[in-house]
Amino acid sequence: MLENVQNLRDQIESISLTNKEEAEQFRLQFLSKKGAIQDLFKEFRNVPAEQKKAFGAALNELKQLAEGKHKEALEGFESTAATGVNGDITRPGTPAELGAIHPINAIKDEIVDIFKRIGFNVSVGPEVEDDWHNFTALNFPEEHPARDMQDTFFVQRNPDWALRTHTSSVQVRAMESNTPPIRTISPGRVFRNEAISARSHCIFHQIEGLYIDKDVSFADLKQVLMYFAEEFFGNAKIRMRPSYFPFTEPSAEVDVWWGLETEVDHKITKGTGWLEVMGCGMVDPNVLKASGIDPEVYSGYAFGMGIERIAMNRYQIPDIRLFTENDKRFLEQFKTGV
Ligand code: PHE
Repeated sequence: MLENVQNLRDQIESISLTNKEEAEQFRLQFLSKKGAIQDLFKEFRNVPAEQKKAFGAALNELKQLAEGKHKEALEGFESTAATGVNGDITRPGTPAELGAIHPINAIKDEIVDIFKRIGFNVSVGPEVEDDWHNFTALNFPEEHPARDMQDTFFVQRNPDWALRTHTSSVQVRAMESNTPPIRTISPGRVFRNEAISARSHCIFHQIEGLYIDKDVSFADLKQVLMYFAEEFFGNAKIRMRPSYFPFTEPSAEVDVWWGLETEVDHKITKGTGWLEVMGCGMVDPNVLKASGIDPEVYSGYAFGMGIERIAMNRYQIPDIRLFTENDKRFLEQFKTGV
């Protein structure tokens, strides 16, 4: 009799339960009322009295073993279902969501790349800037309206500090810490105390270029801007209109020929076909002097453009606020590939 218990024990131990169907089969075969263990219990009365104790103990142990095995298997199936491990590996996976490059970054990268190809490096500087780098070294007269509280966010604790109003401040830093030739491009965030509307924001991005060397002329400036226009807008046709900046002399406003074929072209260029894209000019000798560069030996040009404006034209974005609202429906439109 004890032998029967041992045989059944061996059989139960050799079985492995890999799914719910097998576990149920196991339960019916061994643990149910008509199962093998119950059958052995029925034999109990035929066991000689002196063996009853050992037989009973062995049988109870066997029953516990089988019950434990069954329970453990079921619990295992529960937890693998919850974690998905060892689940049905043929089921399609959950796709990982891909983000998109923000249009401001995409435009910035594209412009940086165009200038890198002709030997410009990238400079960055602090967003909280002192008066010297943002204004004084750039030849802003003491009473210039751009220093006015209405345009500039000053740091209340120290009015010598302000949020930079343009990335020209980075160019001053580049001139202070390098000797010519200097070829650098500085992209970055700038701040102006302006009312927020569809066309203007108090935080936006600029990218500025600076080239200082011996014998740099206005013709060099025009040439590099034509190269840029060709690479970025696919059209080297530009025009320059006289303008004024404290830090450049002469100064110009640069328009790129956009075209006048479609209704959108008319809208973007206000019916002229020309798109105003940047300010530029020859670096004022006072600015070179302030940064420790001898204007008798060196000359240079600078240019600067707003990234939001360019992105709005490129992608037909009607409202500048969309760039900072982080609305997924907007950002997802800039997904590439997949
Ligand atoms: N810093 C100017 C601006 O913020 C742009 C500019 C840069 C103009 C360099 C001329 C030369 O509008």
